[in-house]
Amino acid sequence: MKIQDSVALVTGANRGIGAGFVTGLLERGARRVYATARDPATLAAAVAADPARVIALELDVTDAAEIAAAAARCRDLTLLVNNGGAAAMSRFLAPSLNGARLEMEVNFWGQLAMIRAFAPVLAAQGGGAILQILSIGAMTVFPQVGTYCASKYAANAMCKGLRAELAPQGTQVMSVFSGAIESDMSKNTPGPKISALTHAHNCLAALEDGQEEFWPDFKSQRVRDAWRKDPEAFERALRDRS
Ligand SMILES: NC(=O)c1ccc[n+]([C@@H]2O[C@H](COP(=O)([O-])OP(=O)(O)OC[C@H]3O[C@@H](n4cnc5c(N)ncnc54)[C@H](OP(=O)(O)O)[C@@H]3O)[C@@H](O)[C@H]2O)c1
Repeated sequence: MKIQDSVALVTGANRGIGAGFVTGLLERGARRVYATARDPATLAAAVAADPARVIALELDVTDAAEIAAAAARCRDLTLLVNNGGAAAMSRFLAPSLNGARLEMEVNFWGQLAMIRAFAPVLAAQGGGAILQILSIGAMTVFPQVGTYCASKYAANAMCKGLRAELAPQGTQVMSVFSGAIESDMSKNTPGPKISALTHAHNCLAALEDGQEEFWPDFKSQRVRDAWRKDPEAFERALRDRS
């Protein structure tokens, strides 16, 4: 996958990590970026940055009609950045399950619906790539945000399965286990954090490098190394701290 001359679609492109991807893609020479958001009015800054290359589209990943319209509109897509996500940050025994259901609806079902709609488009363009934003919560469970981790675990399983299913059409699937990136969602996450733009550049370089699973920042690399060294001890420590 080469970013130069690619045509990308970014979900949740209006702020945070998604906005970083729009800028990173433009800086790396993408030919066109479909910047999508639930409220397209929030994409004004993204379009203003490069009106010739950025196209704003309305897209809620839980809305089947909007996904179908986007897939019909973006027939030239070569890279899907499946980023937009929800975080209710709740425990499994929280009084209400509404947050947990929303996380699963957006982070698993919504992102799967995007891939199902765009896989034929990518195939028609010769394969292309899917860059899937997961979380370190997709590889180990942080009990305070257990329901969010469950949705990201499910999306991690989805990527592992899709990697096999999409191999025949030559679509690269890269899972990103982000740790601590500057955004609204991470405002209560302790640092050090990297900026959304640095995160985007790290991910896009890894994609070009052919990686399938990627840990893009200090925190994700620290968690990965500690977990791999002794998964049981790592998870016991998380449990004791919760
Ligand atoms: N920041 C971190 O440290 C970190 C770490 C690990 C993983 N992540 C993941 O990174 C992704 C982006 O999060 P962020 O950190 O940039 O947080 P953010 O600033 O809170 O942005 C979340 C984005 O997701 C969009 N979104 C929410 N529900 C959506 C839906 N149904 N359809 C389409 N878009 C939707 C939001 O759109 P609205 O503006 O309309 O709400 C917003 O653009 C998420 O998948 C998150 O789980 C972040």
